[in-house]
Amino acid sequence: MQKDFLSLTDCSVELLEELLELSASLKSLYKGGSRDLCLAGKTLAMLFEKPSLRTRISFQVAMRDLGGSSIYVKPEDIGGIGKREPIKDMGRVFSRYVDVIMARTFEHDTVTGLAEYASVPVINALTDWSHPCQAMADVLTIKEHLGRIEGVKLAYVGDGNNVARSLAFAGGKFGMEMIVATPAGYELDAETIDKANGVSAGSIAQTNDPKAAASEADVIYTDTWVSMGHEEEKAKRVADFAGFQVDAGLVNCAPDGVKIMHCLPANRGYEITDEVTEMPGSIIYDQAENRLHFQRALLKKLMG
Ligand code: CP
Ligand code: NVA
Repeated sequence: MQKDFLSLTDCSVELLEELLELSASLKSLYKGGSRDLCLAGKTLAMLFEKPSLRTRISFQVAMRDLGGSSIYVKPEDIGGIGKREPIKDMGRVFSRYVDVIMARTFEHDTVTGLAEYASVPVINALTDWSHPCQAMADVLTIKEHLGRIEGVKLAYVGDGNNVARSLAFAGGKFGMEMIVATPAGYELDAETIDKANGVSAGSIAQTNDPKAAASEADVIYTDTWVSMGHEEEKAKRVADFAGFQVDAGLVNCAPDGVKIMHCLPANRGYEITDEVTEMPGSIIYDQAENRLHFQRALLKKLMG
């Protein structure tokens, strides 16, 4: 078993499939009122450079569910990340106190730097580059609703960002057919597409036409146009993303029964309308719930 969970590109298909199975079995165990206290006495440090509702609360609950505890650390508590002391010393010292570290950072190099020097597992809880825990909760949700992942046609409409990138990696690993529809200039980089396509039968393509992407979709997925750290670009982005809103018109281009996904937080009236968020095909809140079920499995597997 690898030490860290930093990017889906580091993980074998077998490991990811095992994590999905473990997520489902622990989900049913906990829903049935039973407990698996395999991490009794263990501690998770949660380092957050950016805000969070889902990631913070679901990791904290997952750790408690498994009998362990967690400590929430803000950069200002420790004098900033890489400011009061080098990241390598942070990784080494955290490892002397806790059993696992998760970090949400701006730069991806911060989590890889922590992982390089920590002797305990490090989990990527979102960086500017990727969001692997989200993508795994997403494929778990797709499997629950559609009964399969392989061959599922997913239209990602919006910004070619961290969420889109991890979803493309997951799509490649699990054999999805994914089309990423972005305005010109907001596409995923070619290296991401190559890497995503290089790993399995999944096919990951790009377009600048959201209606074409939606036309055969089993799932339409979107995320914010303005990721954390890009707030000053909001006015430009709102203008650039005109025509890329997931609204009733776009949903009507898709086959009947299309599912709607969003990693949340959603900005109703921008990347998605209130109507589409609330429609019966929306599986957005199952996605949010599955963060907990996936991360419980991940913690157990990394430390088991
Ligand atoms: N989807 C997600 O990661 O949400 P938070 O930013 O609230 O953790
Ligand atoms: N792309 C978003 C995801 C939030 C969970 C961001 O990085 O802000």
